[in-house]
Amino acid sequence: MTPPRRPAARRRTAVLRREAVLATVPVAVAALLAAAGPAAAGTTGSAGVGDPYFPFEGNGGYHVRHYGLTLRYDTASRHLDATAVLTARATQRLTRFDLDLKGLKVTRLTVDGTTAGFRRDGQELVVTPRRALRKGQEFRVKVTYNGTPKPVTDPDGSVDGWIPTDDGAFVAGEPQGSMTWFPANNHPKDKSSYDFTITVPEGRTAVANGVFLGQRTAHGHTTFRWRQTEPMAAYLATATVGKFKVEQYTTRDGIQVYNAVDPREASAAAPVLRKLPSVLEWESRLFGPYPFRAAGSIVDRAPNVGFALETQGRPEYDSAPDLSTLVHENAHQWFGDSVSLTAWKDIWLNEGFATYAEWLYSEQHGGDSAQKTFDKLYAKPAGDDLWAFPAGDPGSGADIFGTPVYARGAMVLHELRKAVGDRTFYRILRTWAAGHRGGHGTTAQFVRLAERESGKDLDGLFHTWLYTKGKPAEE
Ligand code: ARG
Ligand code: ZN
Repeated sequence: MTPPRRPAARRRTAVLRREAVLATVPVAVAALLAAAGPAAAGTTGSAGVGDPYFPFEGNGGYHVRHYGLTLRYDTASRHLDATAVLTARATQRLTRFDLDLKGLKVTRLTVDGTTAGFRRDGQELVVTPRRALRKGQEFRVKVTYNGTPKPVTDPDGSVDGWIPTDDGAFVAGEPQGSMTWFPANNHPKDKSSYDFTITVPEGRTAVANGVFLGQRTAHGHTTFRWRQTEPMAAYLATATVGKFKVEQYTTRDGIQVYNAVDPREASAAAPVLRKLPSVLEWESRLFGPYPFRAAGSIVDRAPNVGFALETQGRPEYDSAPDLSTLVHENAHQWFGDSVSLTAWKDIWLNEGFATYAEWLYSEQHGGDSAQKTFDKLYAKPAGDDLWAFPAGDPGSGADIFGTPVYARGAMVLHELRKAVGDRTFYRILRTWAAGHRGGHGTTAQFVRLAERESGKDLDGLFHTWLYTKGKPAEE
């Protein structure tokens, strides 16, 4: 098993990084936000959650408990007609609050059934309810909108969001694309349950997250219903549409599997997808019980995408995945999906862990040992991309999917494993997944957990491997 997978995605990131850095204006944006900040301290919800990498991602002042999304997508004209009903709770008094929505036309917006004022300001949909919301108040926002969704271009140059394909759309939202198809509190800090009702032309399939509730065809259209009960970050939501072959079964552990495969990818995907139950069992032994009711795969043909995404409960691939990619995206179900980030800076908690899962899979299935994988990487010269920045501090949104986050992130875990021994190491992983299940975790919390479980001072190790610039010296 060769460790660096998804070569297309990797190359894209590396090549695009330099121009991308120039294209981002985090300083200017931060200044703008700071200017907006003090005014926002009163009764208006802030325009972002305070993530310096994506200052406008998410919104302050409320938490969304549930999204009810009703979508109707015409694959021929690429027109989307939709309503989103958000059940939310005000965390402060609110005379005004924002949602994130990019493009599309909002035709009506109500708060608790009453028409509310709204205006568009970049990716912010600014809502002024008729009456102020009290702190702690539950409220429902209904947004009716339509248009032709377009993907957003990320700081690293990749496309993200609603990405049209020749037979539908590949829908993936990391780190910011969910706002291209539904109004959201678009930051992983806010997690919610979801219901999806998606209508597409007969013959197409619409695949979202969670449990498949059923489908109905009438008048040339089919409506698919999906329910995600466990908390989910908006970026992990999908509503992928295409011509798919569907396979459904329940695993020995009672997990409901739904695989949707583009027929053109079916023969390449079959041998890998067949391994899904055994991969999930192996990961459950290592990381603890699988965190969701539903599992599966969406294998699309989306040649312009260049990455796979760990969409919750059902990773999505832009072509037939190889086995390491399947292992990687499913490991994210524990690390990234169930245990979520509170800031994009901590992205190694997702990508380093999922990459290390690949190394462990290889080690335990007759491939290279994790040590061997580590050694091959460590042999790379100091000028290599691998050492371009420390895994725990990518520096900007343009580098969150860079090689150091994945490979050096996994090296951090390998160093930890060597320092604490296998038993303690695996206990740390399981305790992490169990203790933060359905919630969030930060790098500082992970470091504290590792120290507590091992009884060792690990400051030096994490300082060197997570935060020190350049290639760490040989011990
Ligand atoms: N999290 C995905 C993975 O497991 C990568 C997503 C990349 N997204 C992007 N917009 N570049 O590899
Ligand atoms: Zn990943």
